[in-house]
Amino acid sequence: MTPDLFEQGAERLESHKAKLSTDVTSGDRGASYGRIHTSGALDTTHGRILYLEDVHVSFDGFKAINHLSLDISPGELRCIIGPNGAGKTTMMDIITGKTKPDSGQVFFGSTIDLLRYNEPEIAQLGIGRKFQKPTVFEHLSVFENLELALKTHKGVAASMFFKLDGVQSDRLCEVLETIHLTQEMRRQAGNLSHGQKQWLEIGMLLMQDPKLLLLDEPVAGMTDFETERTAELFLSLKGKHSLMVVEHDMSFINTISDIVTVLCDGSVLAQGTLAQVQADERVIEVYLGR
Ligand SMILES: Nc1ncnc2c1ncn2[C@@H]1O[C@H](COP(=O)(O)OP(=O)(O)OP(=O)(O)O)[C@@H](O)[C@H]1O
Ligand SMILES: [Mg+2]
Repeated sequence: MTPDLFEQGAERLESHKAKLSTDVTSGDRGASYGRIHTSGALDTTHGRILYLEDVHVSFDGFKAINHLSLDISPGELRCIIGPNGAGKTTMMDIITGKTKPDSGQVFFGSTIDLLRYNEPEIAQLGIGRKFQKPTVFEHLSVFENLELALKTHKGVAASMFFKLDGVQSDRLCEVLETIHLTQEMRRQAGNLSHGQKQWLEIGMLLMQDPKLLLLDEPVAGMTDFETERTAELFLSLKGKHSLMVVEHDMSFINTISDIVTVLCDGSVLAQGTLAQVQADERVIEVYLGR
């Protein structure tokens, strides 16, 4: 997710809000817009922050996602594993609005039908996505990158006159601590290590206080030390945010996981603790090997 996505999302949601305040009647398909815009709250009373049911996506006849059903609880840290081409990234593309499924349901909380929203709007709704390659602003300092993440969340006009208030400064300091970059706050982001850039990008997402964070192969290319630090970071985020983490690094998964979902051929092959899925013959066959 990039700042321009947030900007576009903020603007488009405002225009939807104006439209829906006149269009929506209680209980129709527009009702989910009405609820989020008026209350700002996400309805997780049914115990799910994310809910996918029977989702299908084909690319030129190839079924990349096939009968995919899965749900995640509020505050959960869910790990997703599976062989190359299993559909893990495509699933994230669907949740974030990058790819529209051919059929199926994708809900954020009980009431927000994500299929009605585009990519920037979904970012604005509180779903943060971290791609594998860090996309920080290299010429800016760590501090400025985090500050920018707040500014862009406010839209173009507001950001021109933007100045951090006390609460936002506190939040920025808190995020710096969380991502272990307090000592580096004045350093240019381009001079950080690969791992530190990854943490900074996670920090930029945290500045927007996402309810759900999607992280695709976050420790790829990290040193062992950075990987350990990242595990600590994710464990500290659990509970405050919901996280979906895709990784191939099993020792990392072992450190952070509660429930692990194994994807294969676009659907859920197995789910359980890491020990349970590692003992599953089908998982051994298609992914872990003997
Ligand atoms: N836009 C696209 N057009 C055509 N095929 C695609 C597209 N996106 C994904 N695919 C195909 O869908 C399948 C699932 O890909 P995806 O990237 O989701 O797998 P993955 O589980 O993330 O794999 P990896 O572990 O290698 O990252 C692959 O066969 C891929 O080639
Ligand atoms: Mg992938």
